[in-house]
Amino acid sequence: MESPDNQLKNRTIILGVTGSIAAYKAADLTSRLVEYGAEVFPVLTESACRFIKPMTLQTLARNPAASDLWAEEAGWQPGHIELADRADLLLVAPATAHCIANFAMGFAPDLLSSIHLATKAPVLLAPAMNGKMLEHLATQANLASLRERGYHFVDPVAGRLACGYEGQGKLALPEVIIERVVNILG
Ligand SMILES: Cc1cc2nc3c(=O)[nH]c(=O)nc-3n(C[C@H](O)[C@H](O)[C@H](O)COP(=O)(O)O)c2cc1C
Repeated sequence: MESPDNQLKNRTIILGVTGSIAAYKAADLTSRLVEYGAEVFPVLTESACRFIKPMTLQTLARNPAASDLWAEEAGWQPGHIELADRADLLLVAPATAHCIANFAMGFAPDLLSSIHLATKAPVLLAPAMNGKMLEHLATQANLASLRERGYHFVDPVAGRLACGYEGQGKLALPEVIIERVVNILG
């Protein structure tokens, strides 16, 4: 890929981070997206916060990291609606089976899934999970339903998984995810 400088300049990316062991990789992804000139707003699920601290992502993003739907700032418009409106892309990396199910069903129990329903921006999902979770018919049906609706994916790759198994389900490499982001927003 070409030099990262400014390829994503002035593009607003909401980086959703969910409760996968791969959540720590969101730090590198944030840092690289910022290097590409993007304005990154990290949004973590409650489970993601067990794997990585919002402080890590907000320091790298140079923007506040949010995780609580109910911790809105003062102002007449809920912060998540404002963020959803200004986003050029909603990227979720890593995306858990649970997050994918929420998105497929249109459930909005937390900040990330509420932003998902409230945004008109394209959505790019980078799933990461145990191979059996990925193969499960429920997960496959949810993925198929989202693909049919035009959602973008960076497919997980095969390798040694954190659960101890070898198989499909590893988060795609950050450079592959970023290449996709550049393609979508370019
Ligand atoms: C150590 C550990 C690792 C996990 N890794 C994954 C994972 O890679 N992918 C996944 O879909 N779920 C994983 N889970 C399960 C999710 O954290 C769980 O389904 C959670 O409800 C997801 O919530 P969220 O989608 O709101 O973040 C893991 C759980 C634990 C305890």
